[in-house]
Amino acid sequence: MTLIEARNLFRNSLNDLYLQAEIDALFKSCIAHYFQWESTKVGLAPQQQLKPDEEAIISATLEKLQTATPLQYILGETIFCGLKLKVAPAVLIPRPETEELVEWILEEQNQDRKTVVDLCTGSGCIALALAKQRPSWQLTAVDVSAEALEIAKENSNANSLKVNWKEADVLMPALTLDKCDCIVSNPPYVLPSEIKKMHANVLKHEPALALFVPEENPLLFYDAILQLGRKTLNPNGAIYFEINPLCSDQLINLGNQLGYAYAEIKKDIFGKARFIKFRFIA
Ligand SMILES: C[S@@+](CC[C@H](N)C(=O)[O-])C[C@H]1O[C@@H](n2cnc3c(N)ncnc32)[C@H](O)[C@@H]1O
Repeated sequence: MTLIEARNLFRNSLNDLYLQAEIDALFKSCIAHYFQWESTKVGLAPQQQLKPDEEAIISATLEKLQTATPLQYILGETIFCGLKLKVAPAVLIPRPETEELVEWILEEQNQDRKTVVDLCTGSGCIALALAKQRPSWQLTAVDVSAEALEIAKENSNANSLKVNWKEADVLMPALTLDKCDCIVSNPPYVLPSEIKKMHANVLKHEPALALFVPEENPLLFYDAILQLGRKTLNPNGAIYFEINPLCSDQLINLGNQLGYAYAEIKKDIFGKARFIKFRFIA
């Protein structure tokens, strides 16, 4: 099989699941990961004959992609804020939007020594990206899933970054954490009514624990974290959240009711109200 035939096989086999541009991107990521071939390779050497072992790797990857398994789970890794992170089905695949949340925090929070807590950390992506850019900060990251924390710890070791990992349920009202200057969280926020517009690869393969909240309580995690913030944040501390754009107004009201000084909404690159910051004055 030639390289262009392999790419066309990807296109023909995956067109029920992905758009053509997405399939081409998957193919390029696959050959970059396994063979370190540049993304221009398909254009420059379309007639290159694949060796039997290369063909076998491409076929095996395609077979898994046809079951809607995300490529990042097949490769076992992804890149987040320039860090190579292990991912497996116990953790959500970090999203580009969440990189924007990290960038916002880095823009606003300077180099001074700070204590920062990442709640619902999953792969550890947010905590680790902050640890990389702000080595003087003391970072703690919390998740309820022991399996997710195992992966987060592997990611911190592989990147030589120090974070205190803690297994805890942020919904437990009795939860206490050491005082901190800043809380960040990308908690579960997808409503069951949004399932119909979700891609099969997310629904079938990413952990439901990381995604969903009850339809009747969309702010479940934000409420618990804002309450936790009242007893945990130092004066003038801040909370940064990734949010469901459908719930931004409700969340601003909740923050006001719970005594937070003000809220600032930030849009993501798609123009959606995706992030919010609350400041805690008391
Ligand atoms: C949307 S994922 C975010 C993961 C990661 N922070 C990111 O941005 O990619 C939400 C995470 O919340 C965790 N989680 C779910 N329920 C939780 C709870 N009650 N307490 C703590 N963590 C929880 C899940 O295990 C999952 O890792």
